[in-house]
Amino acid sequence: MMIKELYSQTSGKAKKIMLLGCGELGKEVIIEAQRMGFCTIGVDRYMNAPGHQVAHKWYAGDMKNAGFLRSVVEKEKPDFIVPEIEAINLDMLMKLEEEGYNIIPNAKATHTAMQRERIRETIRKAGCLTSKYYYATGFDEFKDACEKVGYPCWTKAIMDSSGHGSSFVKGPGDVKAAYEKAKNEARGSGEKMIIEEHVPFDIEVTELAVRHYDENNKVTTSFPMPVGHYQTRGGDYHSSWQAAEVSEKAEKAIYDTAKKVTDALGGVGIFGCEMFVVGDKVYANECSPRPHDTGMVTFVTHQTGYSEAGLHVRAITGLPVPTEKRLGYNGIPMLTPGATHVVLSPYEGYDPAFGNLYPAFNAKGISFMLFGKPEAHTNRRMGIVLATAKDVHDAKIRAEKAAHMIEMRTRQNPAWMQQTDKEKHLIK
Ligand SMILES: Nc1ncnc2c1ncn2[C@@H]1O[C@H](COP(=O)(O)OP(=O)(O)OP(=O)(O)O)[C@@H](O)[C@H]1O
Ligand SMILES: [Mg+2]
Repeated sequence: MMIKELYSQTSGKAKKIMLLGCGELGKEVIIEAQRMGFCTIGVDRYMNAPGHQVAHKWYAGDMKNAGFLRSVVEKEKPDFIVPEIEAINLDMLMKLEEEGYNIIPNAKATHTAMQRERIRETIRKAGCLTSKYYYATGFDEFKDACEKVGYPCWTKAIMDSSGHGSSFVKGPGDVKAAYEKAKNEARGSGEKMIIEEHVPFDIEVTELAVRHYDENNKVTTSFPMPVGHYQTRGGDYHSSWQAAEVSEKAEKAIYDTAKKVTDALGGVGIFGCEMFVVGDKVYANECSPRPHDTGMVTFVTHQTGYSEAGLHVRAITGLPVPTEKRLGYNGIPMLTPGATHVVLSPYEGYDPAFGNLYPAFNAKGISFMLFGKPEAHTNRRMGIVLATAKDVHDAKIRAEKAAHMIEMRTRQNPAWMQQTDKEKHLIK
């Protein structure tokens, strides 16, 4: 749908955008949507989720529950339904799409991306390079698959949430525990697993490809510069930066790979395409049809309205996404190099507090975002520090320094404490 007119956000004529999932990413999409003239509705499982705090209207409930989902959609009749999370009743999403509701990018892409086998096969059929992999059911097949891909390897449940059933298997001695983990921590049946060759990458990147309408109402793909990042604790985003340090050849391969994968998924919006870069070679890992946590760096590297959240809103509503040519592709211009570093809670507890602010934030190029989660868990992402600098190395150091100076406490744990994890950090 290409929007031709905008209205004051609270008028009955404003188009409605409903976010299914209102974490830190949904919150930013809501803010950008409001800035651009849309009425916003935030849905999440708990009250006062980050996006609830900035939406025009909000609902709390279980989005896996078909009745709840239909009830909020029928009540609000949104023009755009924008999933931000995977825990949504897919059958109901499909039904709503059939009835004419506009699911972003489309219900099938959401269905494909939430399960490792479906997204892997989509990526392979699109002609992208991937790590070697096998599927397995039962321990014997699992063990055989590990032997066939060789050690070290990665083992993952086909359906899991945030990598809970995943293991890095260093050798035969780890196989049993990895099997149990994949089986017990899976979402759904837990029977089928994927065993992947370990890719010893130089850098891991996210390409935030944007499928949007051009001036002729045709869908085209444009590319922000690749985001570099590292994950800690086995697969949790910890720091990201833009642009990633990759060769021109690799950069082109990143755009080609993202184009193939997102063409296969279809629809409009931003897609977080995860890839591993080894020299000039690019391996596709997975892709989710929505803003990506590592892409939060675009909040400082791009002009207001062109962050991953802004681009998502522009793309889905048919507002223009101006580009400039870069290496023969439609590039989305960036203002400055930048980096992010997460603020993880060291504690459990309610009413999380953040201190040591002046020392932490009194530095050039530093911004911070507190997401507004009402409750902390150990290692829950509570906010991020964003930094700009003349190059990404300096930006990474600035963000890391500031994030580690912040002190946190909760009602249950009143002693101030900083983040202590230094895995993969630049300052030891
Ligand atoms: N085959 C592999 N080779 C090298 N590193 C890998 C491989 N598979 C996973 N990893 C590392 O583990 C991280 C998490 O794996 P992956 O992206 O497959 O799952 P996930 O992010 O947990 O899944 P989801 O995004 O659905 O929660 C990757 O970002 C990467 O750092
Ligand atoms: Mg991932």
